[in-house]
Amino acid sequence: FWMGCLSVVIAYIIGSISTSTLVVRLVSGRDIREEGSGNAGATNTMRAIGTKWGVVVLLADALKGMIALWIALALTRGSVIAAAVSAIAVVVGHNWPIFFGFRGGKGIATTIGVLLWLAPIPTVIAGVICLIAIALTRYVSLGSLILTVLVPIIVAVWFMHTAVLVASIVLALLSIYRHRSNIARLVRGQERRIFDKSGESL
Ligand code: G3P
Repeated sequence: FWMGCLSVVIAYIIGSISTSTLVVRLVSGRDIREEGSGNAGATNTMRAIGTKWGVVVLLADALKGMIALWIALALTRGSVIAAAVSAIAVVVGHNWPIFFGFRGGKGIATTIGVLLWLAPIPTVIAGVICLIAIALTRYVSLGSLILTVLVPIIVAVWFMHTAVLVASIVLALLSIYRHRSNIARLVRGQERRIFDKSGESL
């Protein structure tokens, strides 16, 4: 039990390493949280300093999730419950990082990292649908919401481990909560699109 608790704390600390804030600060000297959407994430990094760095942040944030799960499984000798709670903790760390004044991101890249481990096939299926949605609309937030909401539905249909189902539901709720402002903009038709040549809404 204590090893499970330790792995959750470690996951929160790993999640708290805000790679977008660090990368944008190092590359441009600016604060990502004062740029574009104000979000400390891969999408906003792409807006602020380019696609290449956005991809770097996406991969690094997904890797954070995987490392947290790897540590949880190693410490608890493979407890799915410890992995599921650590999955939530690493995303909470990303969203509300202890090292960066609790101002983090929306947790999508890290969520993808943990879900790829906990529920690979549902995540790949939801990921493909998410990519199609982004390609058609250029709204990353819409794609992110579709991905995080679809995974628990597929996991439920698939009859996967209850801890994985509960974790994926909590991750979907966290994602909806963090995308409140995006949802409001989507409804008003004012959401930023990626690769927007006009630059205005980017
Ligand atoms: O992963 C975050 C993405 O869904 C939206 O980011 O910067 O457009 O709010 P942003």
